[in-house]
Amino acid sequence: RSRFTVRDVAAAKSRGEKWSMLTAYDFTTATVFDEAEIPVLLVGDSAANVVYGYDTTVPVTVDELIPLVRAVVRGAPHAMVVADLPFGSYQAGPEQALATATRFLKEGGAQAVKLEGGARVAPAVAALVGAGIPVIGHLGLTPQSIHALGGYRVQGRDEAGEVLLADALAIEAAGAFAVVLEVVPADLAARATKELRIATVGIGAGADCDAQVLVWQDMAGLSGGHVPRFVKRYADLRTVLGDAVRTYRDEVRGGQYPTVEHSY
Ligand code: KIV
Ligand code: NA
Repeated sequence: RSRFTVRDVAAAKSRGEKWSMLTAYDFTTATVFDEAEIPVLLVGDSAANVVYGYDTTVPVTVDELIPLVRAVVRGAPHAMVVADLPFGSYQAGPEQALATATRFLKEGGAQAVKLEGGARVAPAVAALVGAGIPVIGHLGLTPQSIHALGGYRVQGRDEAGEVLLADALAIEAAGAFAVVLEVVPADLAARATKELRIATVGIGAGADCDAQVLVWQDMAGLSGGHVPRFVKRYADLRTVLGDAVRTYRDEVRGGQYPTVEHSY
């Protein structure tokens, strides 16, 4: 099995084959997801929340994300590894975007990058694509703009839907090979999927996107607290892991672990 590439993404769209994407932030989980043949792994800036414990994705830095990208690349020889450009590392313009994306490829070993925004970041997308760096766009609920959006809510309703479509077309025209659509009405995502030649990757964007993406701790039921309605929990890892560590704690306290079979 050779590594999944932008050509495979285009081929899947032309054949009407849907594919899945998951976030990954470390070596061990990357090996699990790669062995499960998840074709694209995203080292999301959601690491801000699930790895570093920040309230939003705004504070996380390139220096905090690059080591995670390196670890995921080491664990995933078959998946395309996409690095998220964090807030403040590309908004200044194409030169800054190119310098940042270059670090994620050279130091991180990523094969592609993702950035948030529409027409305004199209020049940055074009600069990266011109330099040979595959780019995924990200529209709708863009968490790096949370302070401007005023909260985590559905985007692209009514007239805002037309703006989103225009932004998606601008990102496509700039050379992106896919675009994430986050928390937008399903009918809008379906329209975008039809009108775009590039792949749409939905998260809370209905069933008609070319691909889906989820934060792995959400879909595996490891995240605590509130999870958004678009998340399906495929496992209950928080209970499984919590039970395991409580049993371990109790067995150490009670002298049941370790026994002779764990000793030399
Ligand atoms: O950072 C992230 O995890 C993301 C995905 C949810 C699309 O951007
Ligand atoms: Na992100």
